[in-house]
Amino acid sequence: MFWQRLSVIMAAIFLLIFGCGKKEDVIKIGEFGSLTGLTATFGINTDRGIQMAVEKINQEGGLLGKKVVVIVEDDQGKPEEAATAVKKLINQDKVIAVLGEVASSRSLAAAPICQEAKIPMITPSSTNPEVTRKGDYIFRVCFIDPFQGDVMARFTYNDLKIKKVAILRDIKNDYSVGLANYFAEDYKKLGGQIVGDESYSEGDIDFRAQLTNLKSKKAEAIFVPGYYTEVGLLVRQARDLGIRIPIIGGDGWDSPKLIEIGGKALEGCYYSNHYSPDDPDPLVQSFVLEFKAKYGELPDAMAPLGYDAAMVLFEAIKRAGSLDPAKVRDEIAKTKEFSGIAGKVTIDSLRNAEKPAVIIKIENQQQKFVKWMYPEKKS
Ligand code: PHE
Repeated sequence: MFWQRLSVIMAAIFLLIFGCGKKEDVIKIGEFGSLTGLTATFGINTDRGIQMAVEKINQEGGLLGKKVVVIVEDDQGKPEEAATAVKKLINQDKVIAVLGEVASSRSLAAAPICQEAKIPMITPSSTNPEVTRKGDYIFRVCFIDPFQGDVMARFTYNDLKIKKVAILRDIKNDYSVGLANYFAEDYKKLGGQIVGDESYSEGDIDFRAQLTNLKSKKAEAIFVPGYYTEVGLLVRQARDLGIRIPIIGGDGWDSPKLIEIGGKALEGCYYSNHYSPDDPDPLVQSFVLEFKAKYGELPDAMAPLGYDAAMVLFEAIKRAGSLDPAKVRDEIAKTKEFSGIAGKVTIDSLRNAEKPAVIIKIENQQQKFVKWMYPEKKS
């Protein structure tokens, strides 16, 4: 009896040791994003991009002889939940690096935690400049909003020949407030006038009071640097109020849900973005094909940016030849001319990536490529 029991205990201990030993054979990466909530397509499509990158790397034999495993946390689109998610990923799951978030406010909540723990964080698509200022472990693979604001200012003033713009911003959203300010600054420098400035908060469903105020201001366009759910609703309400001028925005509009929510009201509207599925580049086209075959829809910008963020991390791990987060951090910082799906990534001294932006027009209920816009070399 005794010996029998002892052997069972021994077997259990044996399993425990070897079971755990086996687990150490994988590389654990954390991912946090809004898989649910008002910006659910941000998290879902980033995740799809990241999963495609993981599949690819594991098919090639993994990294440093180990399989890559991504542990995904849903933050429901809430900054407090984003902070909780990265704490769990770092302290409980012991991930060696973190991918996320899309939205700047959520990245801003998580970045200080990653910085403090010295765990590298790469945001695929948070564009507010403050994000990477949180410390030397925080990176992004996309452009920043001072550039995006300048792009939309130049496009509106020079290409659309619009000289008077009103602004409608999401006051609780760091991205929206920042982008509104950068746009206004550059637009005024070009000679444009800001004739009205109103605000709303994420989750609002009635924008008629603000729109009515703006209607009296004789603007020729309204700049709305918000996220797709509110944008879709407010554009419809603008048309119902008889506001026919173009409504323009930034990357936060990008979602397969935008046109579903906004419908015909969006015709003739413009926004800036990170990539276009119309780009003839073979790298982009093969990604679009693979994504469509897998998920039955065109990838928005989140998917390629999620893919690129993961690949930049994987390449850095390869070069580091180590899972030491400090060494991986140093290699991420050295990323040069990485051929991403959403453009080439070179990490600069501020841990940002300088890239061109694309202008999208909504036409026949589709997101159509208009042109590329590049950083202006200011002399
Ligand atoms: N740039 C936005 C932010 O910082 C997030 C975003 C990126 C949304 C790309 C849509 C597409 O909050």
